[in-house]
This record gives sequence, C-alpha cells and structure tokens, in this order.
Amino acid sequence: MIQPKGYVSSNKLQKCNVLNLIDEFEQELTQMSGKCMDVGCGPGDITKYILLPALNPNAVIISTDISEGAIEFAKKTYSNERLRFEVLDIQTRSLPEKYISGFDYIFSFHALNWCYDIR
Ligand SMILES: C[S@@+](CC[C@H](N)C(=O)[O-])C[C@H]1O[C@@H](n2cnc3c(N)ncnc32)[C@H](O)[C@@H]1O
Repeated sequence: MIQPKGYVSSNKLQKCNVLNLIDEFEQELTQMSGKCMDVGCGPGDITKYILLPALNPNAVIISTDISEGAIEFAKKTYSNERLRFEVLDIQTRSLPEKYISGFDYIFSFHALNWCYDIR
C-alpha cells in the first residue's frame, strides 16, 4: 500500500462492506475474545474503529500487512494497548514460529483476493 493516508480518506466502500459484515455477525463477534489477527489490515483504521469495538473487550488484535509503509502508518496512528501492528506476508512459506497456532480468531477484509497462492 503506497499511500495509507490517502486510502483512509477514500475507503468509504470498504468501511461500508465491513460494517455490513459486523452487523450480520454482531452477536457472535461480542463473544470473541483472546488473541485475534486482522490479515492485510492496510492502514489500520477499519481494524481500530470497526473490528476492535465489535469484539469482546478482552480481545486483542495483532494486525498484519505485507506493506511496511501501511504498518508504519498504522503503528503511529492507531496502536493502543489492545491493538498492535506487524509486517507479515500471509503467503510466506516459512511462517514465523510466533504466528503458528497463536491465535483464537483470524479476520481479513478485502485482502486475500490479492494473494495468488491462497493456500
Ligand atoms: C484493499 S487493502 C484492504 C485493507 C483493509 N483490510 C480494508 O478492508 O480496508 C488490501 C491490503 O492487503 C494487503 N496485502 C496484499 N497482499 C498481502 C499479503 N500477501 N500479505 C499480507 N497483506 C497483503 C495490501 O498491502 C493492502 O494493505
């Protein structure tokens, strides 16, 4: 993601899509706590303002993206005690040990479609 700041100001459609999903699964989401991941979080605004508030208050999110620029922006702008950002290519063939079996729930919005090797 080359312009995270620009994306935040022009992602109305993506916000709307995620809000619709959150709305549909509202009840289930409030039961989800523990360690969660948002894959391909981009600049992090949707993670912070839409996904995180929908989860149980005991949930924490490690938000990841392949883009160093997006993660740098997200860290500066949206990090808090329940939300951390890390660079991760979800297509990697050598997933770092810390990510293996380390999550209770994994979310992804508008990102897996960019992967050529979904497996
Ligand atoms: C359209 S943005 C979606 C951002 C946010 N999830 C949303 O819904 O607005 C797609 C994101 O997927 C990320 N992405 C693409 N390929 C990826 C990969 N292999 N691993 C992790 N993130 C990836 C891009 O860097 C980009 O930030």
